[in-house]
Amino acid sequence: MKISQAIFAGSSKKLDDRPKQRLPEFAFIGRSNVGKSSLINMLCNVGKLAHTSSKPGKTRLINHFMINESWYLVDLPGYGYAKVSKKERENLANINHGYLNGSKELLNLFVLIDSRHDIQTIDLNFINKLGEAGVPFSIIYTKTDKQGVNALDRQIERNNTTLLQYWEELPPFFATSAETGFGRDKILDYIEKLINNINS
Ligand code: GTP
Ligand code: MG
Repeated sequence: MKISQAIFAGSSKKLDDRPKQRLPEFAFIGRSNVGKSSLINMLCNVGKLAHTSSKPGKTRLINHFMINESWYLVDLPGYGYAKVSKKERENLANINHGYLNGSKELLNLFVLIDSRHDIQTIDLNFINKLGEAGVPFSIIYTKTDKQGVNALDRQIERNNTTLLQYWEELPPFFATSAETGFGRDKILDYIEKLINNINS
């Protein structure tokens, strides 16, 4: 899959307010600061398409980016950021919940996990709820440039073992770096395959 055009298509607080044109959607979620917005920029090869920040809690709305006039990348607010008020945390969780449970166009949710750390309880709880809700998902390990290949392999192996305590099969998973572009082609190929599946 080649991305020839990536345009910001709108921000919304609820599903009904998303851009009106219905196209396949691929959304990105994960703990605050894990690198969702940076990954979208890396995939699109546009530095400042999605807003990023070194401080957690940057993305607070559902942001649609229209790709090649034929599908959307969707940047979602992070979860689990301790430093916002309880009310704001609930508000962000409701925004995500409304989108994830309501969008019929969502072909795949990418759940981002920091490749340097053990998968955390908050991630596992989130992933397990996706199973109950029937939301198709895969995992993306982020920030792989921050460690060596051996450490990365070991960490992914540990996380796979944890996931297999809850799931009979592992979901598809990818390793990426928004800094180096590592993993870009595999993710774009995967997206292409899912789009082709609905068209065939
Ligand atoms: P929220 O919108 O706050 O939930 O965060 P987010 O998940 O969208 O994270 P964002 O993309 O804003 O990135 C958070 C920080 O991590 C920024 O300082 C990024 O530059 C940094 N970052 C993201 N991806 C990578 C990566 O692959 N490698 C490195 N070294 N830094 C990264
Ligand atoms: Mg963000």
